[in-house]
Amino acid sequence: MTDATPARKPIIAIDGPAGAGKSTVARHLAARFGLLNLESGAMYRAFARKALDSGVAPDHPEALKALARTTTIALEPTPDGNRVLLDGVDVTASLRDPAVTQAASRVSVHPAIRSWMVDLQRAMGRNGGIVMEGRDIGTVVFPDAEIKFFLDASPEARSQRRYLETPSAAATPEALHEELRKRDERDRNRAESPLRPAPDAIVIDSTELTLDQVLARIESVVIERLGVRVSGS
Ligand code: DC
Repeated sequence: MTDATPARKPIIAIDGPAGAGKSTVARHLAARFGLLNLESGAMYRAFARKALDSGVAPDHPEALKALARTTTIALEPTPDGNRVLLDGVDVTASLRDPAVTQAASRVSVHPAIRSWMVDLQRAMGRNGGIVMEGRDIGTVVFPDAEIKFFLDASPEARSQRRYLETPSAAATPEALHEELRKRDERDRNRAESPLRPAPDAIVIDSTELTLDQVLARIESVVIERLGVRVSGS
């Protein structure tokens, strides 16, 4: 038996490219240590969904800014992931559509949209006790987070994992690989808050690791850093 309650309310940041396993790790850590799991990517996805529904082009910053002023986005953590409310309506089920995925990557390059999201994310996490995953959590949203992880893996490993998660006739491994490549390029090369590890992040490359190995490593860091009591040790 373990008592896995951290001694204080921490913020754990998990950043990394698409398909590196952030969501699985965040969900696991949240359950293991009694933290709220907040998926910042789901917020960009919800806004992208609104832009698509409203006919606003994802590369039109002024129109997106105006749209943002009339948009509310809320995350409700559940044991199975986040419920996402867009203007009060649960849109969770549609946020993984390929069109929304691509549009999320495009709306997230705009500084005005990012600073709106960062404010929302800081407000959600202000009491601590959270795991937040995304691209800029350790660098911009919570630069003072107690623990920062940067999860990475080769593009081939990431697209292969995505394919195994959601095998469908519409998404060949090649199509997924291409989709991931485009998103990587945009996420890493945008001028505002590009994807990169914070200087004090613990970088874990999971290309050659199993999920259990990644989880074991991450858990041991959390226990060591936060002084979590483990009975019997
Ligand atoms: O993590 P995800 O795949 O759900 O993220 C969707 C898109 O949102 C991703 O292409 C980049 C963007 N994003 C971001 O720019 N910053 C974040 N903190 C989270 C996501």
